[in-house]
Amino acid sequence: MTSVTLYNGAKMPIVGLGTWRSEPGQVKEAVKAAILAGYRHIDGALVYENEKEVGAGINAMINQGVVKREDLFIVSKLWCTYHEKHLVRVACEKTLRDLKVDYVDLYLMHFPMGVKPGKELFPVDEDGHVFPDNSNFLETWEAMEELVDAGLVKAIGISNFNRDQIEAILNKPGLKYKPANNQIECHPYLTQEKLINYCQSKGITVTAYSPLGSPTRPWATPDEPSLLEEPKIKAIADKHGKTTAQVLIRFHMQRNVVVIPKSVNPARIKENFQVFDFEMSKEEINTIMSFNRNWRAFMLEWASNHKDYPLHAEY
Ligand code: A2P
Repeated sequence: MTSVTLYNGAKMPIVGLGTWRSEPGQVKEAVKAAILAGYRHIDGALVYENEKEVGAGINAMINQGVVKREDLFIVSKLWCTYHEKHLVRVACEKTLRDLKVDYVDLYLMHFPMGVKPGKELFPVDEDGHVFPDNSNFLETWEAMEELVDAGLVKAIGISNFNRDQIEAILNKPGLKYKPANNQIECHPYLTQEKLINYCQSKGITVTAYSPLGSPTRPWATPDEPSLLEEPKIKAIADKHGKTTAQVLIRFHMQRNVVVIPKSVNPARIKENFQVFDFEMSKEEINTIMSFNRNWRAFMLEWASNHKDYPLHAEY
């Protein structure tokens, strides 16, 4: 269980390094540490504003002969301000230039919502709500399909899409490539059973972001629950001689879900990859599943007025 297979035949390593909020000054070393620790999957995005440094880490490892480009699985994401058809390739080419690679293995539409194009990544009104653009995600998808044909990306997928939105893509007249992957928030407080079952039934792999519950998200409040401190999950970890973080990561792997813990700390980067040598029982997985409370670290308030806001739906 080291990878999941996309419908195009590509193998996507089941554990990847997340890079959201990895500071530009730290992420090059983090990527190098991850590759040296055995990671072959790096998850990034234009909006993280660190792709140059992520690329520097990747290229340092390639140039030192530690890995070849084809050993790596690199993911990036189309930012919302580039949803208009003529901008999709512009965004992708910026990512490739910043990463200094010829292609990415998987390119995701970061959100279904298109946002007013321009220099600002989050152009918002005085209430903090983004200004929409004139696109719709079905047209954006068509422009993403062209990236596959142009050889800039090996596969395309989506992120933060709900069931109806996925279905709209699958039912789009003239669909050329269906999404290979949907990247969503997922952890024991948000187990996503229905959405994962739906995606997997359609041959769409799932990636879990914020597997540790995004403990250092800037908007966290002290009264919110903390996955890394759940005694019952800690007890499962103790039983296996593992850390709580390792159990939280392994949880996804046993559901055939790809998982991308973020860290810039070399010891934790290693720790988060030492997850291939133990197996939790069905009962333990059920215990972890029982923490579900449909709690989200990411409510995406900035997009809550947008016509394509995904989180009004049940799933
Ligand atoms: P750091 O980068 O300093 O290691 P998520 O992937 O859910 O968004 O969580 C990422 C957050 O969890 C980061 O703040 C990261 O901090 C921290 N983190 C990553 N790995 C571990 C770990 N094994 N134990 C505790 N905290 C971790």
